[in-house]
Amino acid sequence: MAENTPQFGVYLHWPFCLSKCPYCDFNSHVRRAAIDEPRFVRAFAAEIASTAARTPGRVVSSIFFGGGTPSLMQPETVAAILEAIARHWTVAPDAEITLEANPTSVEAGRFRGYSAAGVNRVSLGVQALDDRALAELGRLHSAREALDAVAIARGAFERISFDLIYARPQQTPRDWANELKRALAEAGEHLSLYQLTIEPDTPFAALHASGKLKTPDDDSSRALYDTTQEVCAAHGLPAYEISNHARPGAESRHNLIYWRAHEYAGIGPGAHGRLDIDGARHATATEKRPEAWLTAVESKGHGLVTDDALTREEMADEFLLMGLRLAEGIDPRRYAALAGRVLDPVRIAALQENGLMESTAEGRLRVSLPGFPVLDAVVADLAA
Ligand SMILES: C[S@@+](CC[C@H](N)C(=O)[O-])C[C@H]1O[C@@H](n2cnc3c(N)ncnc32)[C@H](O)[C@@H]1O
Ligand code: SF4
Repeated sequence: MAENTPQFGVYLHWPFCLSKCPYCDFNSHVRRAAIDEPRFVRAFAAEIASTAARTPGRVVSSIFFGGGTPSLMQPETVAAILEAIARHWTVAPDAEITLEANPTSVEAGRFRGYSAAGVNRVSLGVQALDDRALAELGRLHSAREALDAVAIARGAFERISFDLIYARPQQTPRDWANELKRALAEAGEHLSLYQLTIEPDTPFAALHASGKLKTPDDDSSRALYDTTQEVCAAHGLPAYEISNHARPGAESRHNLIYWRAHEYAGIGPGAHGRLDIDGARHATATEKRPEAWLTAVESKGHGLVTDDALTREEMADEFLLMGLRLAEGIDPRRYAALAGRVLDPVRIAALQENGLMESTAEGRLRVSLPGFPVLDAVVADLAA
């Protein structure tokens, strides 16, 4: 996918889970009663229609069902939402259509149905290959069950990816290297490897604050990060983004839309979007609470709570923040066109001297491997 060819993605948020994992701060909710899926389908279709009316003529190159746990949806629900997208925009014949799935046997039983509905890529939340670690993470599946789900997914979809969380309590670089090698033996073309983040207001934050949950210090985190890069690169899945690894050509197109600052619609409770309307880039967000979102869409046709036209400066900062996550880095000319000014050459030179950034032969600017663990500081320095 060429960086400068315009892309349009559609992100759909399914906000329900069977239980809440203690580390997670995504917009996910547990409900005792069954979810009225036909009612949600009508609301998704209505919000798709109102968003498409503001972005006519777009060709959808990627669709992503994220969550929450989209694999709790019935395949008919997924099919009906995909039909609504195809009624209001043109979907490219080779569009990437991804669904995030939890790796339990019940959910794996729905994989064929999702594939028949049009899903061609699945991203599984395996998280760990160690049953004790999975229990500590509050997961509802064992490592065996997760790997069985990966095998079923491989038979049902053209493309698969799975997620692991590392830098877990007591995890040493050696343990992690062994776990990662086992994962790579089961992996397809893509892996997402996230360092455990202690998110505010989660049960893990309270345990961490009381000293009952210890995460690796900076040096250990750094060693774990370096191990990740070495093991994955040696296996042919180098990092193309700070936490994402793929065989060249197998990168997630949807994620590239975000990181290359292309356009995407955010549909469903708590979804974010970036839409180009009348020459301005709009940052959109919808109501997070599922039932409040439903009511809003049923009365107004959309659940938008934010719809802000970004300034040039905001667009340029966002371009920097997202683009520097990528191994390919950014084209400084695109930054200059957005910001109306060039990046400060003195700051770039200082970051290069410290080994945190590098320029490529094509004139791109990227964060170096030693710079990635301090990416936020590098971006803050450049954007200042
Ligand atoms: C939206 S979540 C969930 C997908 C799916 N519901 C699941 O749990 O398998 C996407 C991914 O974010 C990662 N994640 C969530 N919270 C995290 C945290 N606090 N630290 C690191 N990774 C996290 C997990 O790897 C997860 O698979
Ligand atoms: S990690 Fe996944 S399953 Fe767990 S609460 Fe978050 S979204 Fe739900």
